[in-house]
Amino acid sequence: MMWILFLLFIFSCNKKEEKVLTYQEVKALFKERGCTNCHDMRRNLVGPPFVSIAQRYKNNKDAEKILFKSLKDGSCNKWVNDCMPKQNLDKKEAKAMIRWILNLEP
Ligand code: HEC
Repeated sequence: MMWILFLLFIFSCNKKEEKVLTYQEVKALFKERGCTNCHDMRRNLVGPPFVSIAQRYKNNKDAEKILFKSLKDGSCNKWVNDCMPKQNLDKKEAKAMIRWILNLEP
């Protein structure tokens, strides 16, 4: 009897566990979600290159929070005389993308 409860417990834990997105999956998301229409890894397009974003927020301990807000609400005049419209992302995706960007080597 105990064994059955134990197995049920393990099973329910596994189900709740969120799947972590891999490096390649996040990379593909930038394209799927349209980010690459305005951002390149290294070149200026409409928005700043991802490596420059990593560079600028390198020593900012609030970086994840700030960038999360920019994606959720949009951002104006920090980089260019223009705005990034708010991005329609789920929370998990947004966070994975932000960590991915911040981990880039300049
Ligand atoms: C329509 C063009 C456009 C699209 C689409 C777009 N961006 Fe941006 N992005 C910009 C512009 C322009 C800026 C600079 C905003 C500013 O100067 O405040 C920016 C800034 C940023 C920043 C820095 C924000 C900050 O607070 O410093 C991040 C991170 C970012 N974009 C990520 C993304 C991601 C991830 C996506 C896709 C989900 C995306 N962007 C889609 C145009 C875009």
